[in-house]
Amino acid sequence: MTLRRSMMAVSIAASMLVGALAGVEVLAQEDRVLTLPEDYRTSFTRYYSGDRVFNEDQAITIYANAIARDGAQKDGTLPFGSVLIAELHTVETDADGAIVESAVGRRIPTGLKAIAVMERQAGWDEQYPDDLKVGDWEFELFSAAGENLGKDMTACRECHHPLTDSEFIFTLEHLAAAN
Ligand code: HEC
Repeated sequence: MTLRRSMMAVSIAASMLVGALAGVEVLAQEDRVLTLPEDYRTSFTRYYSGDRVFNEDQAITIYANAIARDGAQKDGTLPFGSVLIAELHTVETDADGAIVESAVGRRIPTGLKAIAVMERQAGWDEQYPDDLKVGDWEFELFSAAGENLGKDMTACRECHHPLTDSEFIFTLEHLAAAN
């Protein structure tokens, strides 16, 4: 009897585990899959280039589509339909693997490592809990060749989530001032 009860407990625990895993799967399915616009280097505005703030071994170049650029420049908001694309670059290191700085104290980009995309559309936040809401933006990460890397986007949402005063992006002032 005791044995059977404990086996039952094991099987309940197992089914709870399966339920939890299934829950993760459902959330992953609901995470919208974005596509990478093929012609963004020519059709988007390239508005920012610099060393990455939280990644010591990377540099970044950021592009915005016309909807995002026009919104930022008109009244500092990014309307639905906005798309931002960030090229993440590896940077030069010396023989010991230390990051090399140029004469102006900046890292020297050596190659494209990955491409990060944000797109904003109405209602895209609805399925997420409050601490992961980011003003209806969805995130995606592609390889340098443009293949979707299938990564979990939770960390993206967590880090961009606090930026409530700048449309949940880090470079709003730069976009507003872009040519
Ligand atoms: C730990 C914080 C952090 C995480 C995690 C993070 N970002 Fe960002 N993101 C930044 C910062 C800071 C910038 C500004 C440029 C820089 O210094 O890297 C940025 C810039 C961007 C931009 C350009 C628009 C803007 O906000 O200025 C895009 C697009 C972007 N990130 C997408 C992503 C995607 C996709 C992910 C997840 C795969 C992600 N980010 C994860 C901090 C983060």
